[in-house]
Amino acid sequence: MLIKEAVFVVSNTDHKLSPADGMPEYAFIGRSNVGKSSLINMLTGNKKLAKTSGTPGKTQLINHFLINKEWYLVDLPGYGYAKTSKKMRAEFEVFISEYLMKRETLMNVFVLLDSRLDPQQIDLEFMNWCGEKQIPFCMVFTKIDKISSSILAKNLAKYKKEMIKYWDEIPPIFTTSSESGFGKEKVLNYIDGINKAIKEVE
Ligand code: GTP
Ligand code: MG
Repeated sequence: MLIKEAVFVVSNTDHKLSPADGMPEYAFIGRSNVGKSSLINMLTGNKKLAKTSGTPGKTQLINHFLINKEWYLVDLPGYGYAKTSKKMRAEFEVFISEYLMKRETLMNVFVLLDSRLDPQQIDLEFMNWCGEKQIPFCMVFTKIDKISSSILAKNLAKYKKEMIKYWDEIPPIFTTSSESGFGKEKVLNYIDGINKAIKEVE
């Protein structure tokens, strides 16, 4: 699938204020600084679309980007950012979880995981929470340009081993680099597959 057009539409903290046109959407979530905004820019081929930063906590709102006038990519704030105050963290968590649970047009959540790290408790807990709430998700390993393929394979194996403790089936896994563009086609094709399936049942 080719992205011909990617346009910023709206930012807010309330899913009820998000676009009401019923078009399908795909959200990106994960710990602060894992590379959510960078991945959206990589997928759309526009480095300036979503704001990125080397400092965690850059994205603070639910951001909708309209793609090819047909579907949305949604950039979300990161979870688990230690420097935010407890009160702010709690507020964040409420509006993000409300969005994830109540947004009817949300087709899939891409959970971003830093490919350099061992399985992190907070990410495992978040994915288990998605499972409990029946929110479909994929695992997306980011920043693979920063490690060797053997370390990547080792870290993926560790994650699979953890996931299999809780899940009968491991969700789809993507490996990506926003630096090199690796993984772009696979992620976009996955989205395209869902968009096509929706059209067929309409
Ligand atoms: P918050 O909005 O703060 O939650 O962060 P985020 O998850 O949106 O991360 P962001 O895209 O802002 O990226 C964080 C930092 O990681 C930036 O300095 C990016 O340049 C860098 N980065 C993101 N993806 C990659 C990648 O694939 N490879 C490399 N080398 N750096 C990356
Ligand atoms: Mg961001």
